[in-house]
Amino acid sequence: MRHRLYHDLAHLWPVFSPPEEYAEDAGYFREALRQRLGPGRHSVLELGSGGGHTLSHLSADFDLTAVDLSPQMLALSARLNPGVAHHQGDMRRIRLGRTFRAALIHDAIDYMLTEADLRAAFATAQAHLEPSGVLLIAPDYFKETFAGPTVLHWIRPGADRSLTVIEYCHDPDPADTTIESIFFFIQQEGGELRVEQDRHITGLFPAATWLELMAEAGFTAERITHPGYEGGYGGHLLAATLL
Ligand SMILES: C[S@@+](CC[C@H](N)C(=O)[O-])C[C@H]1O[C@@H](n2cnc3c(N)ncnc32)[C@H](O)[C@@H]1O
Repeated sequence: MRHRLYHDLAHLWPVFSPPEEYAEDAGYFREALRQRLGPGRHSVLELGSGGGHTLSHLSADFDLTAVDLSPQMLALSARLNPGVAHHQGDMRRIRLGRTFRAALIHDAIDYMLTEADLRAAFATAQAHLEPSGVLLIAPDYFKETFAGPTVLHWIRPGADRSLTVIEYCHDPDPADTTIESIFFFIQQEGGELRVEQDRHITGLFPAATWLELMAEAGFTAERITHPGYEGGYGGHLLAATLL
């Protein structure tokens, strides 16, 4: 599925979800990495790095490499993170031919829709980690914590243009492993109002499935909970070490 937010509407990403709002999450990642790897400028790979907002808070501490499916998002991230190596690729398939001390998959992991997708993403992480490397994953929801249907909104005022985003998120079929979000992007500029729409299907799995599949991929995983965001999403961190 081609997401407009990461392609023709990618220029809205830094306005909709500004880098400074990632400082807190990046802090949890930094702490989890330091606890497991100790001090030092360790090499860290982010799969599904998007606009590089999370990375922008980690580049002072770690040597970073970014992978994303979308050229438009990679371009945004390269502008924000000039010292970071960027590669286009799918987290289920990419092989960079080198290893890292840690791999990070933030909210992009939500785009894994089936257990086969999760297995493939974990296999990619495993293929890029040194022995006893660390994998951090931050899904927005677990099956147990998805209350749905929910409506979230963000109002981003600006001097001459403003953006309002409305997200309607629901679970059309509780028997499968996906949920659906419909986004409305309401842009106001010079008295003109433009509304764009986008549809995202994302994965929804019980916490136990994540831990089981990570174990299957050779990791010992644990769940770390931290305060989430509005609407009950976010706040989950799975930290794993390669055996
Ligand atoms: C919510 S954005 C990530 C934002 C990011 N945390 C940031 O700091 O800006 C989700 C990203 O996942 C990427 N993505 C989705 N499916 C992917 C896949 N199979 N492999 C790699 N990237 C993927 C999208 O292109 C998008 O850039």
